[in-house]
Amino acid sequence: LPVQILENQQEGAVLIAGLIADLIKEKQANNEMAVLGLATGSSPIKIYRELVRMHKEEGLSFQNVITFNLDEYYPMDPASNKSYVHFMHENLFNHIDIKPENVNIPDGTVAIDQVAEFCAAYEEKILAAGGIDIQILGIGRSGHIGFNEPGSTANSTTRLVKLDGITIRDAIKDFGSEEAVPHRAITMGIETILSARKIILAGWGKSKSAILKAMIEGPVSSDVPASFLQLHNDVSVYVDEPAVSEFT
Ligand code: F6R
Repeated sequence: LPVQILENQQEGAVLIAGLIADLIKEKQANNEMAVLGLATGSSPIKIYRELVRMHKEEGLSFQNVITFNLDEYYPMDPASNKSYVHFMHENLFNHIDIKPENVNIPDGTVAIDQVAEFCAAYEEKILAAGGIDIQILGIGRSGHIGFNEPGSTANSTTRLVKLDGITIRDAIKDFGSEEAVPHRAITMGIETILSARKIILAGWGKSKSAILKAMIEGPVSSDVPASFLQLHNDVSVYVDEPAVSEFT
């Protein structure tokens, strides 16, 4: 996997936001929609901040953009300040001119007996939009991309999953206690992610170093679901120095 080591997170965010803006403008010129796959969490925050800046200061328009988020906790009230719906509006959608009907985030309120149907419809909607042009990813210390935890297979699609213990522990900082962390989520699958035409993974800081090494240098395996990215022909990994500190 090609790795780009940046001076700092901000430099990486500017580069990645630039790639996204180029796609949006190219599609605009052809009267086409740009389809973005988006992630939540700390890794993409500065990318979204840069996109907001480009909208406000440079007039970058998101009128021709459709987005699909990777995942949402389950169950989750979208109005909760812990929801990924809330996160995306706070960090991006409230500050740009995207059409609300073009924003797609898995629904954490779907009744349990309708989850499978919802997930199939999410896959259909991605296909109907023409597939994802650029997918933004972070990586979890469990090796997850989206919420595809260890054990996830290459042919997995959008579905309800149980979160790994490491993921639950890492989420305590957001929820206050382990009991408050939802233990399940709806996530795009590995196959869904690998169907994107271009994939950009951002990993910042020393805490991601060991898992990034496993993803990049280790075998392709369900033990490290992010390693499935080795099977894709257009993945770029953006990291800072601390994130590669444990590489030899
Ligand atoms: C979030 C997601 C997760 C995160 C990962 C890293 O939508 O799908 O895979 O990207 O857990 O999270 P941060 O960036 O907070 O370290």
